[in-house]
Amino acid sequence: TRRCVVAVDGPSGSGKSTVSRRLATALDARYLDTGAMYRAVTWAVLRSGVDPQDAEAVTKVAGETDLKIGVDPEAPSVTADGIAIDRDIRGPEVTAAVSAVSAVPAVREQLVALQREIIEAAGRIVVEGRDIGSVVAPDADLKVYLTASAEARAHRRSAENATDISATAADLARRDRLDSTRTADPLRQAPDAVELDTTALGVAEVVARLQELLAGRRPGQ
Ligand code: C5P
Repeated sequence: TRRCVVAVDGPSGSGKSTVSRRLATALDARYLDTGAMYRAVTWAVLRSGVDPQDAEAVTKVAGETDLKIGVDPEAPSVTADGIAIDRDIRGPEVTAAVSAVSAVPAVREQLVALQREIIEAAGRIVVEGRDIGSVVAPDADLKVYLTASAEARAHRRSAENATDISATAADLARRDRLDSTRTADPLRQAPDAVELDTTALGVAEVVARLQELLAGRRPGQ
């Protein structure tokens, strides 16, 4: 099987995870959720009682945590120091603190290095995040930037998490602001990324569109 790296970036709730997992399955590729890695470090920071705003202490925790991430699109998994934290990293405490932790340059350096190792080892992989096309895998075969209206994004997230829609909308807006205004590798559309507005599209339609793009870019595959 041929090497193929697909970078999927975009703001929170734009449909990255569902689309990336389905695309990975369709391509018989691996799937890497880089957001889960930032969430896992945040989980470790909160567990150790460190202030998420304390960049030095956060960096130390990141360096001392043994992070393992499973790349099966049907069953992605995350462990920190051997503890399965797949559910905990989606909770409100981690979600509230993750943007502060992911803004620390030394944390990003460490996780980006790990992400590149995972991509290299996998060969065929769909990678989702905020800086995949711009920083982590600038030579990806296909770069996609998914967007959706603020309403659609809040609606999807609150349906997923069974949370109140206005609180969800406020949380998404807050994280997007923090993620796009930080100095280190902010959320940014790579110049060569294809932008796709998913507001009015179903998951299957988005996946089909990405497969078309991939076929167009890699003749003979
Ligand atoms: O994708 P998800 O919403 O799980 O990401 C959680 C947080 O992790 C984002 O809000 C962002 O702060 C951070 N993140 C990042 N770079 C990535 C992926 C996620 O900074 N590549």
